[in-house]
Amino acid sequence: MNIRRSYSSFALVVSIWAVIAAPGALAQSIDPGQPTVLITGSNRGIGLAFAQYYSAEGWNVIATVRNPDDADELQALAASNAHLVVEQLDVTDYARIDELAAEYAATPIDVLINNAGVYGDRGKQEWDVLDPQTFHDINAINVLGPLRMSEAFADHVAMSKQKKIVSITSGAGSVSPDRIAGGGVFYAISKAALNMAMRQARVQLEPRGIIVAAIAPGIVYTDMLATNRPSLVPRSRAPEESVAGIAAVIASLDHTYDGRPRNHDGSVLPW
Ligand SMILES: NC(=O)c1ccc[n+]([C@@H]2O[C@H](COP(=O)([O-])OP(=O)(O)OC[C@H]3O[C@@H](n4cnc5c(N)ncnc54)[C@H](OP(=O)(O)O)[C@@H]3O)[C@@H](O)[C@H]2O)c1
Repeated sequence: MNIRRSYSSFALVVSIWAVIAAPGALAQSIDPGQPTVLITGSNRGIGLAFAQYYSAEGWNVIATVRNPDDADELQALAASNAHLVVEQLDVTDYARIDELAAEYAATPIDVLINNAGVYGDRGKQEWDVLDPQTFHDINAINVLGPLRMSEAFADHVAMSKQKKIVSITSGAGSVSPDRIAGGGVFYAISKAALNMAMRQARVQLEPRGIIVAAIAPGIVYTDMLATNRPSLVPRSRAPEESVAGIAAVIASLDHTYDGRPRNHDGSVLPW
C-alpha cells in the first residue's frame, strides 16, 4: 500500500470537507437566537440610525447600501459588531435584489425595512418644469424598489417569527385635503404610490401571516431634508429620535393592524 498517496488522498478529503463544513461569513454573522432585520439605504440618515438602533438591541442586522466602500460610519459599526453584515444593494438593480435573496435563502428575516429613498431634483419637479425622466427615476427607487424588495424577500419574512415588512413613507404622500403641503410634486406622488404599493403587498402577503406597514418618520434632520426642505430644518428631530419611535411602532404591530399608514409616534397618517 502506498502510504504517502493514501495520506494525501485523506488530506484532500479532509480539506474539502473542512471547506464545505466551515461556517461562512454569512452563517457566522447570523445568530439564530436573535431576530434579524434587513434595511435598505443604511449608510446615512434614517437608515444608518436603524442599523445603529437594531445593532444596539442585539439583533442581526443586514445593512444594505449602494456603495459599501463609502459607508465609513456603517463599516465602523460592523467592525465592532459580529452580527452586523454590510451588503451592496441598489434597489433599482433587480438582478442584485434576486441574488441577495438567494444568498439569504435560508435566513428568516423578522423585519424588512424599505428605507432607501430619494427626493429628486426640486428644480425638475415644480409645476411648469415637470421633467419626465426625473419622475421615472424617483418612482423606480421610492415605489418599485420597496415593492420588488417585498416580493423578493417575502419567503424570508414568512419563515421568521415576527413576519413584518415596513416601508418608510412620508406625510408628503397623504392626499387628505388638509395635508397637501409644498415641496416636490414627484416626491409626494411617489409616497402616495408607495402607500398603495404596500396596500397591494398586504393583500398578497397577509394570507401568509406577514404584516405589511407604511410608517412616516416625521420631519427628520438628514441630508434629504437639509438639501430639499431647508425651511423645515428648525422643526426637525434627530434620526435617532425618529427611529426609536418607528421601532416602537414596528414592535407594536400585530394582526389587529388595519394597514393604514402610521406616524413615528403611532398615530394614524391619513391616506
Ligand atoms: N428626512 C425626512 O424628514 C423624511 C421625511 C419623510 C420621509 N423620509 C423618508 O425616509 C427615508 C430615508 O430618508 P433620509 O431622510 O434618511 O434620506 P437621506 O439621508 O438622503 O438617505 C437616503 C438613503 O437612501 C439611499 N438610496 C438612495 N437611492 C438608493 C437606491 N437606488 N438604492 C439603494 N439605496 C438608495 C441613500 O444611499 P446613497 O448614500 O448611496 O445615496 C441613503 O442611504 C426615505 O425613504 C425618505 O423618503 C424622510
